[in-house]
Amino acid sequence: MGIQITPSLLNADFAHLADEAARIPNADWLHMDVMDNHFVPNLTLGLPVIEALGKAAAQPIDAHLMIADPDRWAPAYAEAGAGSITFHVEAAAAPVRLAREIRSQGARASMALKPATPIEPYADLLPELDMVLVMTVEPGFGGQKFLDLCLPKIRRARELIAASGGDVWLQVDGGVSLDTIERCADAGADVFVAGSAVFGADDPEQMVEALRASAVAACAH
Ligand code: DX5
Ligand code: ZN
Repeated sequence: MGIQITPSLLNADFAHLADEAARIPNADWLHMDVMDNHFVPNLTLGLPVIEALGKAAAQPIDAHLMIADPDRWAPAYAEAGAGSITFHVEAAAAPVRLAREIRSQGARASMALKPATPIEPYADLLPELDMVLVMTVEPGFGGQKFLDLCLPKIRRARELIAASGGDVWLQVDGGVSLDTIERCADAGADVFVAGSAVFGADDPEQMVEALRASAVAACAH
């Protein structure tokens, strides 16, 4: 699939989400951060907003569920129209069953890891997944500083994906900017979430292209 840029709308204007999506026509996906004030200490949006934006926006929705009990709630995001659904493995009771359920609804199934969660215990799950998200900040808020300590895990995740032989995308989320994206790409990430870097820029569309160019250049090394 190659390099993909998935801007997070967490730092966009929530009163005008469809207009904000239209400012980044070159985005591969719209990354929507669902937070429930239980799994993370912040509350954002849920199913009705995802469903409405999915109908109004041209890009597919990449739903990042930072919620407790994803086993119960995640499949409904597929029904609501999200094309990719990421659950946190720390919160999932039965990640294999959940990934299969998401896929059976026609969406891509993705597993997220917080900075302190290792990838190795989940290596055998890779064939059940379409994407792994390695968080590069503690989930909950936009605008945090990128954690370099996550880079070795990105590298290990890429190695495990290669060994598993599947076409599993590797996403990074948190503090991704022109300053940090090359390090992530170099470590093996291919799907890049950027929130404040994109919506804090004067020209978000141009920033998406600049991020893409940096990642592509880093991969060419
Ligand atoms: C944080 C969210 C991120 C957030 C990224 O928990 O998962 O998607 O919006 O924002 P930046 O790019 O500003 O770190
Ligand atoms: Zn996110």
